[in-house]
Amino acid sequence: MWRLVPLFAVMSLLLAGCGNPTQSALIPRGPYAQGQFDLMMLSLIIMISVVVVVFLLYFYVIIRFRKRKGQTGVPKQVEGSHLLEVIWTVIPIILLVILAVPTINTTFKSSEDLRQNKDALVVKVTGHQFWWEFEYPSLGIHTAQDLVIPAGKKIAFELSSVDVTHSFWIPSLGGKIDTNVGSGVNTLPLQADEPGIYRGKCAELCGDAHSLMDFKVIAKTDADFQAWVDKMKTPATVSADAQKGQELFKQNCLSCHATDVKTGSFGPNLNGFASRQKIAGILDHTDADLKAWIKDPQEEKVGNKMPKVPLKDEEINEIVKYLNTLK
Ligand code: CUA
Repeated sequence: MWRLVPLFAVMSLLLAGCGNPTQSALIPRGPYAQGQFDLMMLSLIIMISVVVVVFLLYFYVIIRFRKRKGQTGVPKQVEGSHLLEVIWTVIPIILLVILAVPTINTTFKSSEDLRQNKDALVVKVTGHQFWWEFEYPSLGIHTAQDLVIPAGKKIAFELSSVDVTHSFWIPSLGGKIDTNVGSGVNTLPLQADEPGIYRGKCAELCGDAHSLMDFKVIAKTDADFQAWVDKMKTPATVSADAQKGQELFKQNCLSCHATDVKTGSFGPNLNGFASRQKIAGILDHTDADLKAWIKDPQEEKVGNKMPKVPLKDEEINEIVKYLNTLK
């Protein structure tokens, strides 16, 4: 049994590299992620070179200078060799300088505050147990869970939290950074090069459902992004058969969930909800999953702030009909 332990250790090391291509710091999709990836590669290359050189010397020395048959006495001693000491002091210094210059450079670039930059789009991020709120002050849009951004444009994030410390991380685009309560906002610049969908995660243990605190980044072309903005600002038309659901929603849900794009709310803003791919960031967007979520949110995401509202199944069906109109 115990002989298998090293095997598993090596396998877990290898398999740790497997994963989602839209959620990997090793597949960078933007300039900030690329800069951080390049740093990883640079340090990896330097460290591997050091390991290779040291091991080659090591094996050369133990073979070349081994004790031979008939050899007596103490071999020639080389301690205090100035030449050797200079060599193994200077080489590490050079390697550290090669590492330090790009590291400091990239670190400063990765934490630039772009909020005053005219070319950047400001997005305010607020962490909640266990969902993400996004506000676009210049566009007058509040939304949740789906972070829609224009591709090829710098995004200036301003981050905070309302309850506990969370950490905002989009591995494909770079990051990550804590969202703190009260002690001032953090800022983070990110950019996606191409339109696409990237996955984001909370990277700080923040409670029971921490591992389910997922969100999505949807990068769009400029035209598609503008179309999204226009759609978000157009109030949804509620069809006749969804009006009963709208009433029930107003009575039971509106005290926490806003549907008006202009306001933030205690629970996620649901404007545009029907166009989101996931419910609560984790469930598939099907009527069945939505009903299950409304029926017992605690069952799906333990410890979240949405209470189990005493609703009959028919009432839930009506509310689902209404939510499906919030495109
Ligand atoms: Cu929020 Cu972990």
